[in-house]
Formats: sequence, structure tokens, C-alpha cells
Amino acid sequence: MHSLTPTAIQLIDFYDDGELARHFHFRLMPGADIDQWQKAKTGQYFMLCLPNAGEAPFTFTQLPDEEGNFHGLVRKMGTVTSELFRLEAGQVLGARGPYGVGWPMKKIAGKRVLVVGGGCGLAPLVGVVDELIQQQNYIQLTVVYGARNRQAKMLNRERTRWQQFIPVFNMIENGDTNGDESEYSGTPSDIMPTVLDSFGELPDVVLLAGPEGMMFSLAEYLVAYGVSEHSIYMSVERRMHCGVGTCGHCYAKSKYVCTDGPTFSWDELQQYLPAER
Ligand SMILES: Cc1cc2nc3c(=O)[nH]c(=O)nc-3n(C[C@H](O)[C@H](O)[C@H](O)COP(=O)(O)OP(=O)(O)OC[C@H]3O[C@@H](n4cnc5c(N)ncnc54)[C@H](O)[C@@H]3O)c2cc1C
Ligand code: FES
Repeated sequence: MHSLTPTAIQLIDFYDDGELARHFHFRLMPGADIDQWQKAKTGQYFMLCLPNAGEAPFTFTQLPDEEGNFHGLVRKMGTVTSELFRLEAGQVLGARGPYGVGWPMKKIAGKRVLVVGGGCGLAPLVGVVDELIQQQNYIQLTVVYGARNRQAKMLNRERTRWQQFIPVFNMIENGDTNGDESEYSGTPSDIMPTVLDSFGELPDVVLLAGPEGMMFSLAEYLVAYGVSEHSIYMSVERRMHCGVGTCGHCYAKSKYVCTDGPTFSWDELQQYLPAER
């Protein structure tokens, strides 16, 4: 049984990273079970606990290291995130985790991998891209990122870093591309024929995260193109309270998104989604 008691963490620093989004660096306070936190895998998440505001789930963009440092990207939405944005460096808050099922790294490593993220949906994919690049463990790795406009682009440092090693297609939906050669006008779907063409053979694995409309339509497009439903994985978000499979808030047919997900293969996920979507 998971403990629901938060571990004390300190906000070390932060920087703004796109419209209403901030990159946060946290560190576990002395006495925390660092070994437990170091078991975190890319694609897993933690519950951030703010006294007087509540709790909310966020993905690790950088997993806990041996000193207990970890990072996340947070978009300001409502009660918990607004309170988080009011904190100063040095203040103490709480966290629980790590929770959920991460990306299937054994199936991803050493393959032709296509990664597509929309908005702050790129956050759960940062760890995978970093890990594959650091270990040079891919045949081909391509990232497609979609944002509504230039101001809304998030995870700018990460995408700039990746561009030194792999193709990164930054899609700007309103067409304000400002002449940057990695930027294209349109959505991730618009660039998909060009991206798939660049693979020569079909990608072995596709990872998707972002708005569900974007993920589901891309998955359908990719399947029609010949990519297997078993090879497409996505990270889904549901309202979560406990994060450990006891409250039922994230229930999707026979599955709990908090413990059986948030990552699912497309063939698996379709069984748990409502017929009308
Ligand atoms: C597994 C998981 C990982 C996540 N990772 C990240 C991350 O890395 N970065 C990030 O910025 N966000 C992430 N989210 C979303 C984040 O948890 C919510 O934005 C957060 O709960 C908002 O809390 P709040 O109290 O500020 O907003 P609230 O006051 O609870 O809500 C504000 C508005 O947002 C809507 N809303 C809140 N949560 C969700 C949701 N899960 N799905 C749809 N609508 C919602 C509410 O209906 C309301 O309209 C993740 C969610 C899940 C389930
Ligand atoms: S969040 Fe409570 S069961 Fe999933």
C-alpha cells in the first residue's frame, strides 16, 4: 500500500518557459527516501502537494538524481498551479510518488523513434528524448512539437539542445514562424507526410503526448499509413485525486489511469475510451 503522506521538498529555482508555463527545480529535503524516488522512470509522475491549495499530478521532466533533485514543467491552470506560481525559491512544499507506468523503454531503445508533443504535452516526453540522446541509443529519433503560436512554445531549452543531435520540427499553428529554420507553419499533422518520408522505413515506435484530439487523430493517421497500433504509445491525462488506485476519480472502464497509465499503447487505450470521442 502506497503512503499518501507527502515528502517534504524544497523549491530550488524556476524560470518562465512559454506562455503561463514555468520550469521548476525541486529537491527532496533531508530525511527523504531518495532510493525510493530514484526508482522513478521516464513517463511516470508525482503528486505535488501545496498546503491550503491541494494536490495535482505532474510529470518529471528530469528524474530524481542521487541528491534528490528533480524537475517539472507546469502550466498555470487553477488552484494548485496558481499557488505554486506564487512560491519563492527556498520555500518548502510536498510531493508524493513516483506513480504510474512510464514509457516502455525496452521497446523504444535502439529503434526508429518518432516523438510528437503538443503544448505542455511535451513534458512527459523530455526524459525519453534526453535518455535516448545521452545513450545514443536509437537508429533514428525525430521530434515534432506543436504550439498555437510562438509565445506558447514551451521547453525551449530542451528543444534547442536536441536540435544539435536530431531533427526537431517546431510547428506553429498560427503561421508566425519568424524565419527560424526549425519552425514550420501548421500543426504536427500537417508535417507528418514529410516526417514519415524522412524515416524511409516506417518508425518502429511512435510516442504521443498532448491534447487528446491531436493524439487520437495522429494515431488514426499513422495506423492508416501502416504503423501498428501496438507501436503507438500515448500519455493521457485524467482528473486524479489519490494517484494510487483507491479513489476512482481517474477510472476508464476497467482501468485506473493513475496506476495502469498514464502511458498506454493505442490498441490498449481504444478499449478504455468511450465509443464517442
Ligand atoms: C498523469 C498526469 C501528468 C500531468 N503532467 C503535467 C505536467 O507535467 N505539466 C502540467 O502543466 N500539467 C500536467 N498535468 C495536468 C495537471 O495535473 C493539471 O493541469 C492540474 O491538476 C491543474 O491543477 P489546478 O489545481 O491548478 O487546476 P484546477 O483548479 O484543478 O483546474 C483548472 C481547470 O483545468 C481543468 N483541469 C485540471 N486538471 C485537468 C486534467 N487532468 N485534464 C483536463 N482538465 C483539467 C479543470 O477542469 C479546470 O477547468 C498532468 C496531469 C496528469 C493526470
Ligand atoms: S486518482 Fe484515485 S483511483 Fe486514480
